[in-house]
Amino acid sequence: MSNQGKLRLGVNIDHVATVRNARGGAYPDPLRAARIAEAAGADGITAHLREDRRHISDADIEGLMDVLTVPLNFEMAATEEMQKIALRHKPHAVCIVPEKREERTTEGGLEVAREENRLAHFIAPLREAGCRVSIFIAAEQRQIEAAHRIGAEVIELHTGAYCDAHAEEDFEKRDAELKSLENMSSFAHSLGLEVHAGHGLTYETVQPVAAFPEVMELNIGHFLIGESIFLGLEQAIKEMRRLMDEARS
Ligand code: PXP
Repeated sequence: MSNQGKLRLGVNIDHVATVRNARGGAYPDPLRAARIAEAAGADGITAHLREDRRHISDADIEGLMDVLTVPLNFEMAATEEMQKIALRHKPHAVCIVPEKREERTTEGGLEVAREENRLAHFIAPLREAGCRVSIFIAAEQRQIEAAHRIGAEVIELHTGAYCDAHAEEDFEKRDAELKSLENMSSFAHSLGLEVHAGHGLTYETVQPVAAFPEVMELNIGHFLIGESIFLGLEQAIKEMRRLMDEARS
């Protein structure tokens, strides 16, 4: 299959808010980070308003809606509260993610296949409001089929298992996870779904995923915010962009 155009980079700014909230003050400001990310070549900004508000706050989302010149990808759990917030702001995209209070980060994909009816009803008003609805799932055929059946336009494949295997130097598992991501990207694309990917990606792990022609967008946060301590946010993002473009060319 031919290359499908420029791969978009969504920069997730959640962990700027994590650092801010560690002291409860006003800095570092996630909105300032979003503006730098835009200037550094981010094609979108991603923010996850968690139910416990551990990083991004309601005021951050309001501020982002006011200042951004690139699309906001609003990550949220499938709850009534989050649906109301999304319908109030009508961000460009909403990405439905599973959420457990006790987890440190979004550990797995959404179980769409088990909750098909509820999720179909949940996303319908979001789609009617003009939001592009994306579903964050593991690279499994049955989840992709279910996401397609409920009317999602986009799926985001969870790259966490691939990145974890790489970090643990379990290269057999890493390569198997990568193969699943590759196969499931083309399967989802064949159903007409737009394919995104993300979670845990770093300079070391981004290129093989960026090379899949069906993948249209990567959402990357934690590593970039960490790396910005050493390089500055602008340079950290530019290097990620460079690696993505190199892999794609
Ligand atoms: N995509 C989704 C759906 C996510 O939930 C997250 C984490 O919030 C990311 C991408 C970014 O993951 P990371 O911060 O590990 O790069």
